[in-house]
Amino acid sequence: MVRLLGYHIATNKLRTTQIQSIKTETQTVKTFAFKDKLCAKAKPGQFLMLWIPGVDEIPFSILDAREDGSVAVAVRKVGEATSALHNKRIGEIIGIRGPFGNGFTAKKGKVLMVAGGTGVFPLLFLSRKIKPKATRLVFIIGAKTREELFFIDEIERFCGKENVVASTEDGSYGVKCLASESLELLLCKEKFDMIYTCGPELMMRKVLDLAEKHGIALEASLERLMRCAIGLCGSCVIGKYRVCRDGPIFSAQQLIKVKTEFGKFKRDFDGRKISF
Ligand SMILES: Cc1cc2nc3c(=O)[nH]c(=O)nc-3n(C[C@H](O)[C@H](O)[C@H](O)COP(=O)(O)OP(=O)(O)OC[C@H]3O[C@@H](n4cnc5c(N)ncnc54)[C@H](O)[C@@H]3O)c2cc1C
Ligand code: FES
Repeated sequence: MVRLLGYHIATNKLRTTQIQSIKTETQTVKTFAFKDKLCAKAKPGQFLMLWIPGVDEIPFSILDAREDGSVAVAVRKVGEATSALHNKRIGEIIGIRGPFGNGFTAKKGKVLMVAGGTGVFPLLFLSRKIKPKATRLVFIIGAKTREELFFIDEIERFCGKENVVASTEDGSYGVKCLASESLELLLCKEKFDMIYTCGPELMMRKVLDLAEKHGIALEASLERLMRCAIGLCGSCVIGKYRVCRDGPIFSAQQLIKVKTEFGKFKRDFDGRKISF
């Protein structure tokens, strides 16, 4: 049985708000900012459900949350709902539920971020929070092409170019390889206290295997289909976990328990298994 606490009931109420600003980041990604008191208190790694009236309600990682109440999400245009959001203008109404999920635990010491594609969004929020505590912060970022290395300029400015390892599959920027291959090379040379990862599940599975091999703690942000976001519908299930309620952030120890599913298959809206 799923128990809903008072806090969950409050965060789960749909609030309407206006889009305050829209920034075009790349041909496929725009950043939307709006005011929402509850999501403004979100921790890095938490997500919200964004309702596009008349279209759909879909999950997004929180990219930024500030004390003045402003919240931002970065949205990649992939289908109907994200395209409808990309067509919106400043001042238009959207709906918000959340924040949901557990968020990353901020660790001190030598920290490594491993991001693939849109996985960079929650890790950027986390980086801003933990940089003052970290003795070293290195960012490995990978994508298919240069255009999909989202926020690379900002990350290079923020971490220092020498602390960023960029890789693209077509070699259009950085090293021509997968992010997990860059990680393997780095871990042979240097020891880290913590790895945070977000991106395609296949990539994160490789990152988990490398973290295990090198004995490094890890937290990964998982992305599964989400509808209710509060642990009721079961659409986001992985093994014994519901990603919306038990995650989306999972430790290496938790992921090891669902190794037969993690990076192997996910489920569609009808619950059918889809191989990665
Ligand atoms: C916890 C979480 C955080 C996310 N954060 C971001 C983010 O910060 N930025 C971003 O651009 N995208 C993010 N996504 C993915 C985003 O939710 C989907 O791309 C979006 O729902 C697609 O909707 P659509 O109607 O445009 O596309 P559709 O045509 O409906 O779907 C395209 C693909 O998107 C995925 N998808 C569709 N609906 C959902 C859903 N309800 N939940 C999860 N995946 C779905 C499916 O893999 C589908 O094949 C996140 C997803 C999750 C679960
Ligand atoms: S989205 Fe419904 S249980 Fe997770």
